[in-house]
Amino acid sequence: MADFSLQLSASISVSVANSVGTIRLTNPDRHNALSQADWLAIPKAVVKITEAEVRVIILYGEGRSFCAGADISEFDVVRKDPATARVYEAANSQAFRAVREAPIPVLAAMDGYCLGGGFGLAAASDLRLATPRAVFGVPAARLGLAYPVDAMGDIVSAVGTQAAKRLLFTANRITADEAITIGFVGELVAEETLLNAANELAATIASLAPLTHRATKATIAALSNGDLEGARALGDATFDSADYAEGRAAFREKRNPGFNGR
Ligand code: COA
Repeated sequence: MADFSLQLSASISVSVANSVGTIRLTNPDRHNALSQADWLAIPKAVVKITEAEVRVIILYGEGRSFCAGADISEFDVVRKDPATARVYEAANSQAFRAVREAPIPVLAAMDGYCLGGGFGLAAASDLRLATPRAVFGVPAARLGLAYPVDAMGDIVSAVGTQAAKRLLFTANRITADEAITIGFVGELVAEETLLNAANELAATIASLAPLTHRATKATIAALSNGDLEGARALGDATFDSADYAEGRAAFREKRNPGFNGR
């Protein structure tokens, strides 16, 4: 499919180039705070990218921050009581689920603030890169609201219960080094090279067998969601794939494999 770029909501754009899909948060003046409409655009962005048959998604915030979380300025209307909060949380949760369950790896590239729902988006991602000046936190208790249940699952999976409780109970921000220590961030890269580093990592992932990646992602998810049979089925499918034959042939012929995801 041809490369494209689309603005899906005020702060969410999606593009495909060089076999990588990128979801950009495009409201840098407000540290990419996301409105309800933006949360609803994220699953659409994931669908657009997966339809384009690319192999990796990069999540990236334009300007000085990855994402300062949900747009608090609209809470008096869209998240003002339990009933509206449920509707809001559904939009929020759909976004996290789309990232978590995307059939291809999702890589979050983070600079500046990564707070609240921004932290959740990163937690739902498969791999996380950050700059040394990035700052992380989940200030739900400072606002007096509950963090969405399934998004909490992503945070616990990413950092464990002890670090999750510390982040939530204190609402303190942590540095990039601390984010490395608790296992939230895998790698730090200088701010000027963040997007390049993300694209290089994406290119490495994209050069390898997509069906293996899919089975790997499903298998690791199955350890918490319990869908071991689904994961086994995806694992079984690799043994029937043309890519597995290609991988063996490339090994025999001492060359790099060329995979097509079939
Ligand atoms: N929702 C709505 N607006 C936000 C926002 C958010 N989550 N985060 C930042 N903004 C807005 C600010 O209100 C400000 O708007 P203004 O220019 O109209 O006053 C603009 O973005 C710039 O932010 P500012 O606070 O001036 O920048 P800063 O560098 O001093 O601080 C933050 C940046 C991110 C630390 C601070 O804005 C903040 O704490 N934001 C809220 C984070 C949060 O609680 N997220 C969880 C939401 S559930």
